[in-house]
Amino acid sequence: MGGERKMGNKLLAILVLILFLGADAAANQKRPNSCTVCHGDRAVEYAKSIHASVQVTCTDCHGGNERDLEMTAHARRFGFKGNLKDGRPPFTKQEIVFLCSRCHSDTRLMNTYGLPSDQLQQYRVSEHGVALLKRGDRNAASCSDCHGVHTILSVKDPASTVFYKNVPETCARCHSDDRLMARYGISAEIPERYRDGVHGRMLQQENRKDVPNCSRCHGSHGAAPPGVVRVENVCGQCHAKTRQFFDASPHRPAFQARGISQCVSCHDPHYTERADLSYFESRCTSCHEEGSGEYRRAQQIRVLVQETEQELAEVEEILKSARKVGIYVDPYVEQLSEARTRLIEAIPASHSLALEDIERYTSEARGIAADIQIELNTHLGERNLWRYLMLGIWGFILIVVVSLYLQMRRREKELEQEEPVE
Ligand code: HEC
Ligand code: HEC
Ligand code: HEC
Ligand code: HEC
Ligand code: HEC
Ligand code: HEC
Ligand code: HEC
Ligand code: HEC
Ligand code: HEC
Repeated sequence: MGGERKMGNKLLAILVLILFLGADAAANQKRPNSCTVCHGDRAVEYAKSIHASVQVTCTDCHGGNERDLEMTAHARRFGFKGNLKDGRPPFTKQEIVFLCSRCHSDTRLMNTYGLPSDQLQQYRVSEHGVALLKRGDRNAASCSDCHGVHTILSVKDPASTVFYKNVPETCARCHSDDRLMARYGISAEIPERYRDGVHGRMLQQENRKDVPNCSRCHGSHGAAPPGVVRVENVCGQCHAKTRQFFDASPHRPAFQARGISQCVSCHDPHYTERADLSYFESRCTSCHEEGSGEYRRAQQIRVLVQETEQELAEVEEILKSARKVGIYVDPYVEQLSEARTRLIEAIPASHSLALEDIERYTSEARGIAADIQIELNTHLGERNLWRYLMLGIWGFILIVVVSLYLQMRRREKELEQEEPVE
């Protein structure tokens, strides 16, 4: 009798399985499996992932028998990889790396999706990879720490943990953890400083993709992004002009010989604040004494830029007063902004430390400003001349009118006197 009940249960289970598989297959054309019946919560999460959309199923990662509706679905002989008994997660962090890489290092498979297949290769040489795979340090990030497990999305999906704008938050999960970072002597303020800097603000508030997020500078998987040997050299990929001038400076060989970082010895890579002229004081005195030749050069550069700025500001004032008196100034506004552009170009040039480089731009800016000033002054002069002329004409008319009036009055009086009283 008991056997019959068991039989009945089995039949029912098989029926449910057939129904489920049929419905599943019909509904979303996915390879059906029994795992989803008992692991409904995981199945729901998983259904949205990019893996589900390419028919990677539970058993591709976990093994097991996807046609068995009972606990025997976890049978080892079907390659099940978990350890059910001790409540530990089914994979160690190291195992996860190789689990993902089984497919993601398969160049042929990845080519069909147009994806690179070098993540493991890169990861191995990254700080995280070395820590986890060589030293067995499980605090370091493994694939699933950055990507998630069952809810992995395309990197282009705005909800993905590695969508361009979301990366800083993903790194911050560990890198803002004071206690964790203290163990490695790494500042836990990096994500916060990045957020407050120019790059971070532009990424968050203006949604700009041309500013770097953490992985744009550090690389997504490797120790540095493609084409960059050391992360400190990454700045020049975007600030190309500044880089060119820096390369031509005496600092380039001097820094190289002494192992001094290039851009980051003057600019914080995370809190990238807007640089200004005060940098020629604060940044230089950290290595050169006040009064030294190098310091004097710094002040020469500062003065050159500052004086040009002042001249442009003066021209701006003249422009304003010209506009007030009704002179058509639009062409000069345009010229002035041209001069400003020249001055802005002098800033990257200042990285060469050569006065000639900077002078090239500042003197162009000054030239344009001087031209504007001359022309505007001529206009204003002409306008004044015209005003005096008009004033003279009106004065003349007034005098004529008044004298005519007086003459008329006199004439009237004379007439009154001449006329005899009857
Ligand atoms: C009859 C229901 C049932 C079916 C069918 C089933 N599971 Fe499970 N699974 C369970 C239960 C119950 C546990 C234990 C839950 C726990 O301990 O948290 C479990 C645990 C697991 C674990 C965790 C193992 C560990 O060591 O931590 C994984 C992974 C897993 N199942 C995957 C699968 C996969 C893959 C399939 C399909 C091949 C599958 N399950 C089918 C009920 C089922
Ligand atoms: C891309 C590989 C992959 C796929 C596909 C996958 N899993 Fe997992 N799963 C993992 C990894 C990795 C872990 C371990 C997570 C951890 O250690 O935090 C895990 C953990 C689990 C666990 C145990 C821990 C937990 O989170 O409860 C269960 C149960 C589970 N998966 C079920 C499923 C089911 C059901 C499916 C199909 C719907 C599925 N998995 C598909 C990789 C995968
Ligand atoms: C069974 C093979 C397989 C396994 C195992 C696997 N993946 Fe994938 N994964 C794929 C395929 C195939 C795609 C391509 C999907 C597409 O582009 O439509 C993909 C896509 C991805 C993407 C999205 C790429 C994009 O287009 O933006 C990420 C991220 C990803 N996988 C991460 C992982 C991680 C992390 C693991 C381990 C937890 C893992 N994968 C395990 C096969 C696999
Ligand atoms: C420290 C975080 C981090 C770790 C660890 C990590 N990834 Fe990524 N991964 C990213 C980021 C960020 C991107 C997005 C890159 C982009 O926008 O182009 C990415 C992109 C991807 C992509 C999409 C294709 C590509 O290469 O751009 C795949 C596939 C992928 N990762 C797989 C893996 C695998 C497999 C591992 C483990 C060996 C892994 N990732 C480890 C952060 C990480
Ligand atoms: C799971 C936690 C975790 C996540 C997520 C994580 N990291 Fe890390 N990271 C660590 C740990 C722990 C170390 C220290 C490893 C060591 O020094 O042995 C580290 C080290 C680093 C280092 C090397 C620091 C040095 O000493 O030079 C860099 C760079 C780094 N992480 C960048 C990132 C970036 C960028 C992201 C996001 C894309 C990220 N990390 C996500 C845990 C994490
Ligand atoms: C503009 C490029 C850039 C961006 C964006 C960036 N970093 Fe860095 N990061 C660097 C450089 C360059 C260094 C090396 C600094 C040095 O040599 O002094 C560095 C160093 C680090 C270190 C090692 C610090 C130490 O004390 O050893 C960690 C960890 C780190 N960055 C994490 C991050 C995280 C997390 C983010 C995102 C919130 C991020 N970085 C964003 C360029 C960048
Ligand atoms: C992915 C490209 C990219 C990388 C890499 C990059 N930057 Fe930037 N950076 C930008 C953009 C874009 C802006 C915003 C320019 C603007 O519109 O004002 C910016 C702005 C800045 C500013 C503020 C500019 C100002 O007007 O005062 C500084 C300083 C700066 N970056 C320094 C660095 C340093 C140092 C590094 C390397 C550690 C670096 N950047 C790496 C793209 C980049
Ligand atoms: C010796 C110190 C020093 C080094 C090294 C240095 N800079 Fe600068 N940087 C400055 C000073 C000073 C200014 C401010 C100039 C100003 O505002 O007049 C500045 C300004 C900037 C600006 C903002 C001005 C602009 O163009 O909008 C950027 C961006 C910049 N530097 C990038 C870099 C990059 C990239 C490198 C590495 C190739 C680098 N810097 C190396 C001192 C330095
Ligand atoms: C990180 C240290 C460091 C900082 C910061 C720094 N310098 Fe230098 N500078 C050097 C070194 C080292 C040399 C090479 C000195 C030598 O070879 O004797 C050098 C050389 C120079 C030279 C060439 C001197 C010559 O006679 O050839 C000038 C000019 C100069 N620096 C100006 C500046 C200015 C301006 C600033 C600030 C914007 C600055 N430096 C910031 C380290 C620094």
